[in-house]
Amino acid sequence: MCGIVGIVSEKRDVAESLLEGLKRLEYRGYDSAGIATLIDGKLAMRRATGKLKALSDKLESDPLRGHVGIGHTRWATHGRPSEDNAHPHSSEKVALVHNGIIENYRDLRHALEAKGHVFRSETDTESIAHLITDFLNMGMTPQEATAAALPCLDGAFALAVLFQDHNNLLIGARRGSPLAIGYGEGEMYLGSDALALAPMTNRITYLEEGDWVEITAESAIIHDKHGDIAIRAIHETGLSALEIGKGTYRHYMLKEIFEQPVVIGDALETMTFGDYQIALPDLPFDWKNIRRLSIVACGTAYYAGMTARYWFEQLAGLPTDFDVASEYRYRGALVDPSDVMIVISQSGETADSLAALRYAKERGQKIVSVVNVQHSTIARESDAIVPSLCGPEISVASTKAFTSQLIVLLCMALQAGEKRGFLSTDKATEIVDALRGLPSKMNDVLRDDNRLQEVAQNIATTKAIFYLGRGLMYPLALEGALKLKEISYIHAEGYPAGELKHGPLALVDEHMPVVVLAPYDSLFEKTSSNVQEIVARGGRIHLFTDKVGHANIGAGITWSLVLPAIHEAIAPILYAAPLQLLAYYTALAKGTDVDHPRNLAKSVTVE
Ligand code: G6P
Repeated sequence: MCGIVGIVSEKRDVAESLLEGLKRLEYRGYDSAGIATLIDGKLAMRRATGKLKALSDKLESDPLRGHVGIGHTRWATHGRPSEDNAHPHSSEKVALVHNGIIENYRDLRHALEAKGHVFRSETDTESIAHLITDFLNMGMTPQEATAAALPCLDGAFALAVLFQDHNNLLIGARRGSPLAIGYGEGEMYLGSDALALAPMTNRITYLEEGDWVEITAESAIIHDKHGDIAIRAIHETGLSALEIGKGTYRHYMLKEIFEQPVVIGDALETMTFGDYQIALPDLPFDWKNIRRLSIVACGTAYYAGMTARYWFEQLAGLPTDFDVASEYRYRGALVDPSDVMIVISQSGETADSLAALRYAKERGQKIVSVVNVQHSTIARESDAIVPSLCGPEISVASTKAFTSQLIVLLCMALQAGEKRGFLSTDKATEIVDALRGLPSKMNDVLRDDNRLQEVAQNIATTKAIFYLGRGLMYPLALEGALKLKEISYIHAEGYPAGELKHGPLALVDEHMPVVVLAPYDSLFEKTSSNVQEIVARGGRIHLFTDKVGHANIGAGITWSLVLPAIHEAIAPILYAAPLQLLAYYTALAKGTDVDHPRNLAKSVTVE
């Protein structure tokens, strides 16, 4: 979270390109934004609270010149969103932008204040600016001062630092938060990700843990954590300037929802062949030898992992644990080196998922990651990657990343089932066949969204809502509730349908909408009984089912949506689409900022 960008150019003013880079990073946070440049060697800055538009308006009325500069879009951690707390933070000699958390900032601040440094914000970041300045005051060069300051910092950071009187220098550093170098013609860049730099270059180097770099308009010199010069590979990203447009859609979220049939179709094309065979990258273990699988992830990716647990157990006979990544290491997970961990992450940068990965890796486990961003930290630290490749996902609420993760995980479970001799060829063929029909069924569901738009008007007036499912529909109930709460701010809870009577049923009355996910599957009768228990207590059932389910559910349903019949094993992938639309249209009806929900950020690179 927080996006940072930096440019050093031989001959052009950089503020406009910094702003364009920040637009592409706004998904990482939007509490405030700011830019600093050097004008004739002197630091100059513009900062504004709120979304980038406020900064852009400020720059329009009060432009910034300068061939070297840094920019930041903030997701607040220390200090409320305000102009004083907005980055860049500066002293009289440096300005810097930071992504991460400096854990020992109080100690640093006290020590630096005692030496006469005057702080102007409540942030942890400002202490870095004064710390570097302190070393500069001792007569060090910018490079020496940075090298001296970095070991004094505890916590996570990606930094870009600008030095008064040094028109051809930017220093970047990374520990725990991502930072990339971009190579241009007569200019060089720093950015939190390759997407931010895509309009300017597709030649990218990802810094490794502990690296810092001095960049000029002509070159980059990378130092590793020991201070030695390091050579890091340059990658061609394949990202283009165009890839983040909204097209004709009103919001990124809607565009990304509608991209799903194509994304799924492409993934299946890559991952399946013949009647039922699965083609995955080589994995550094043999499925036959694994006794236990563990899956970790956060947010929506966690619910993809929870779904995958059913698949690995039911289709591959492989006992599977799953953990929310932020708890994994704190519960003191017992790690068997002969087992395997799957980390699921769209961004590949989520701090808790990365920490869980490192915890398991240190204890000898092999790590496979299911990531969308190919050169992300999680991807690079894994023993193998199975890419989910859904293209850039910009909306904070994850949609196509979720369904593409499900496709990958199901294919992995099918492969595991086959290799372990657990899954019959008939069953594998049946599922792969059903998967191939999925894109067109999902397309039909997406194109026929009038009833979802209508019902969203009612849902928008409610204060609380339940989402219920059983079996594979239970993780999806959690994901459906998450989608609604994060963008519409309605309190939504997902529950296993059978668990409602153990407490939450007390909340149900005639005002409470209850979304029930009940395709006509092997658990339908059970779910249907739970539905009747809710109807008997006046609850307003909103049913997502198929034709047969609709005919068999019984009386008392308030609203229902009939979806195409689909194989039980892949139903959650299809049913995800109308739940995403329901959340989207409810948020629209409430007038919230769909792509930038309050308090959230897409990439959470702090613990
Ligand atoms: C944030 C996002 C979610 C996402 C989660 C995990 O909370 O808002 O949409 O599911 O992080 O992100 P990852 O990139 O690891 O999948």
